[in-house]
Amino acid sequence: MPAFASLLVAWQRRHGRKGLPWQDTRDPYRIWLSEVMLQQTQVAAAIPYYRRFVSRFPDVQALAAADEDEVLRLWSGLGYYARARNLHRAARKLVSEHGGRFPDSVDEIEQVPGIGRSSAAAIAAFAFGRRAAILDGNVKRVLARCYGVEGWPGEREVEAKLWRLAERLLPKDDVGVYTQALMDLGATVCTRQPRCDLCPVRRRCVARRESRVHELPAPRPRRTVPLRDATWLLLLHNQQVLLERRPGAGLWGGLWTFPAASNAGYAAQARELGCEISSTRELEPLEHGFTHFRLRIRPVLCGVARTLPGVAAPGRLWIDLEDAAQAAAPAPVKKLIARLGASNASW
Ligand code: ADE
Repeated sequence: MPAFASLLVAWQRRHGRKGLPWQDTRDPYRIWLSEVMLQQTQVAAAIPYYRRFVSRFPDVQALAAADEDEVLRLWSGLGYYARARNLHRAARKLVSEHGGRFPDSVDEIEQVPGIGRSSAAAIAAFAFGRRAAILDGNVKRVLARCYGVEGWPGEREVEAKLWRLAERLLPKDDVGVYTQALMDLGATVCTRQPRCDLCPVRRRCVARRESRVHELPAPRPRRTVPLRDATWLLLLHNQQVLLERRPGAGLWGGLWTFPAASNAGYAAQARELGCEISSTRELEPLEHGFTHFRLRIRPVLCGVARTLPGVAAPGRLWIDLEDAAQAAAPAPVKKLIARLGASNASW
């Protein structure tokens, strides 16, 4: 047996989770049910649901005969209700097309609605002692750390590498104990904040040796988002700045921002805003991240010599620098206001 597997099997026998209600059976129906519940639910939360479910529906025939409403009622509180609908639909199919017999090969189990490759392998290992590798989120973390697998496991090639590794590590015997060991290690020891001192494979763990347990597995890479440019006019007059209210819908809707510059030239545009400017100075740009793009803001500080009469418009506001800090303005506007206040500009 590969050393990894024998260390895990020995650890499972001494320290693994025992006495879970689906561990005292080889009934594939019950094991299927438990694996579906445990796909998105923690063990402690799943246990009472599992008990209620098997006492009301003790076998696949009972589940197939129920109406969906009752199945959903017994599921209510567990979340991810598609799991319950799939389970019910699959039970009906197993009864009507397979005489209620649960398939015993990984490939067939994988055809059952709601069962992916890893769940199919777990059911096959626990119910039929099949030699099949699992790879759920916890196991990905264990293997990525122990074997120093680089890259984000959500990426196809990284996942394929982890599957190959999972298959290579499978022992010939005790596959059920080994499979449970992997699950338990991932759930109780090799967690986000791992307890390496309790780990049976700590001496061979690449992440631990290289002090990278918090770096592996690599997180999802930040999406690279497009960069957009905007130039903002910071019209400053008697320690007041001009803010504009953004239209209700869209970016920063309803918030107060600095007027954006167009191609017209600063002076012409300032005039449209009712200002005669006597100086301009480009300030250090700043960036702001939105979900779908980054905005690079180039602030241009414009010294206003005088304001022109009669150009006040609704949705525009001259505001004291001190009060502007309190305005309903997005973060980069507030940053710039703070900068202006701090520099106490003598323009
Ligand atoms: N997570 C998924 N399957 C499990 C199982 N059989 N025992 C504990 N945790 C699990």
